[in-house]
Amino acid sequence: MSNYHIKHLEEYFQVYRKSVRDPEAFWEEIAEEHFVWRKKWDQVLKWDFKKPEVKWFDGARLNITENCIDRHIPTRGEKTAIIFEPNDPSEEPQHITYRELHEKVCRMANVLKEHGIKKGDRVCIYLPMIPELAISLLACARIGAIHSVVFAGFSSNALSTRINDSDCKMVLTSDGSYRGSKTIDLKGIVDKALEACPGVKTVLVAKRINSKIKMLKGRDKWLQPLLDHAYADCVAEIMEAEDPLFILYTSGSTGKPKGMVHTTAGYMIYTAYTFKNIFQYRENDIYWCTADIGWITGHSYIVYGPLANGATTVMFEGVPSYPDYGRFWEVVEKHKVTQFYTAPTAIRALAKENLEFVEQYDLSSLKVLGSVGEPINEEAWHWYNNNVGKKKSPIVDTWWQTETGGIMISPIPYVTPTTPTYATLPFIGIQPALMDENGQEIMGNQVDGRLCIKFPWPSIARTIWGDHKRYRDTYFSAYEDKYFTGDGALRDAVGYYRITGRVDDVIIVSGHNLGTAPIEDSINEHPAVAESAIVGFPHDIKGNALYGYVILKETGESRDRDNLRKEINQQITEHIGPIARLDKIQFVSGLPKTRSGKIMRRILRKIASKDTANLGDTSTLLNPEVVKEIMDNAL
Ligand code: WTA
Repeated sequence: MSNYHIKHLEEYFQVYRKSVRDPEAFWEEIAEEHFVWRKKWDQVLKWDFKKPEVKWFDGARLNITENCIDRHIPTRGEKTAIIFEPNDPSEEPQHITYRELHEKVCRMANVLKEHGIKKGDRVCIYLPMIPELAISLLACARIGAIHSVVFAGFSSNALSTRINDSDCKMVLTSDGSYRGSKTIDLKGIVDKALEACPGVKTVLVAKRINSKIKMLKGRDKWLQPLLDHAYADCVAEIMEAEDPLFILYTSGSTGKPKGMVHTTAGYMIYTAYTFKNIFQYRENDIYWCTADIGWITGHSYIVYGPLANGATTVMFEGVPSYPDYGRFWEVVEKHKVTQFYTAPTAIRALAKENLEFVEQYDLSSLKVLGSVGEPINEEAWHWYNNNVGKKKSPIVDTWWQTETGGIMISPIPYVTPTTPTYATLPFIGIQPALMDENGQEIMGNQVDGRLCIKFPWPSIARTIWGDHKRYRDTYFSAYEDKYFTGDGALRDAVGYYRITGRVDDVIIVSGHNLGTAPIEDSINEHPAVAESAIVGFPHDIKGNALYGYVILKETGESRDRDNLRKEINQQITEHIGPIARLDKIQFVSGLPKTRSGKIMRRILRKIASKDTANLGDTSTLLNPEVVKEIMDNAL
């Protein structure tokens, strides 16, 4: 029996038991047999959730790019590592072999070095979904620089906050990006962001849309000529197992974004192992994850997990609706995609369109379908299963988080029987617990509670960059000795998990995590606004949309409401990005507050969701009269 590739349900249970009974022996065997090391570890696991501290394979030395690239060259040198599918279907796709990838990564790594980047330095990557994006992550990893990718849909303000939080020295960007029929001026956004980032000395610019952009002398350089002149080999920096590999920001319910820090060995092992099993990846498969590398899904399941397995991974620059709603399926047919991994919001958007968009393409290559980012509703699940999978490709509903680094609860296709809307069983090595309001673990089945994880797994984020206390307070203080996910879940009669959604003030809109506090802060900066509160409400395509309740200052009272709405959304776009725009804005005279001054979001959520039959306990409200006013004028 190979513990690395699980093929039957019995085997899953056996391996799962083994991984829980003796996690160290289990992960040691996986590490030993499936990865290349410069030096073996002194200790497999050291952990203490009180501090909190987690170390996997401490003392080991390695470079993740040797595992993702170099070791494949003797056997898979001419195999395609990355298929780049451009935004415009008339532009030729690119096939980058493992050998070519090695050269490209080395050249980029040498360019970074020539510009003063050393082991441990932070490099901000603000690039669209073009090959340079994947290559620059790997180039950082090659020389031990810590990459911090910022999704290229974030605004200049969001970008500068992230650059400064982790003191990035360099920014990698492009002259612009394509998004369907539109172009976006990425370099302009970077220029604006850098007005507030004195620490950035160099900006390297990839050419993508051939737009006329301004280059700041001494700071900005075109990337391609530098790559052309760079040496095509670069010795990999030998890293410690627990050296940071990257920082990736995620929204919290309060305050500024959290720079989650992932380290090298554990992250590599867990993303590789989950990728192999959860997508049942076989040697000649063509795997496609539609996420952007700006999110954790892209880091773990476009770049590191697939490449560590020597897989062929598709990078798609475009959007599902351009040039029409058949685009995903056209790409599946063109590249004979075998595993397809996307988000429920995309499925819901496509399910609204004519079925012909799906039916005109040959999807017979597909073997596994994946879903990630938010709960998949039953209707979307069936549409995906019937029309894309033709009822023969299992759907893996994968639950995980930026913080977890890899997939935590998910079926293994062809192994775990699936049930719509259920993420089903914990993956190997994962020990979930459901907790009640008194901090006790709820045992047994057919129960629901708050989802925690009881034992460390190799790819758990190790800290929040620059703020270990916040890391402890956010994830390890709600329940003793447990990692708290922020999600609610239920466990059914057979022990399957269903994720019910966030239990904090994070709202997931189109699969993107948005914290309420930063959005409220940005609204409150509008000169006419006194105070605001944001809640989510159900939306057909986005899953959740945002509803804002806004109190105006006296000076704002005379203003035209529709103009104000536009300005508020404009303000949010500038501060955070278009993904955080509000669908509805209601002007109110007050917000329901408890006697201690906390906004009662529960009530606002009910009003926004038109679910006001039972508002629940309102006895602690300081100003109950305002509830009626808000209800009467609800949008
Ligand atoms: C939600 C994305 C239900 C959840 C990988 C989690 C899901 C948050 C699922 C993390 C799923 C993710 N079913 N909910 N299959 N996958 N979520 O950090 O609320 O962008 O806490 O990581 O998305 O989002 P993040």
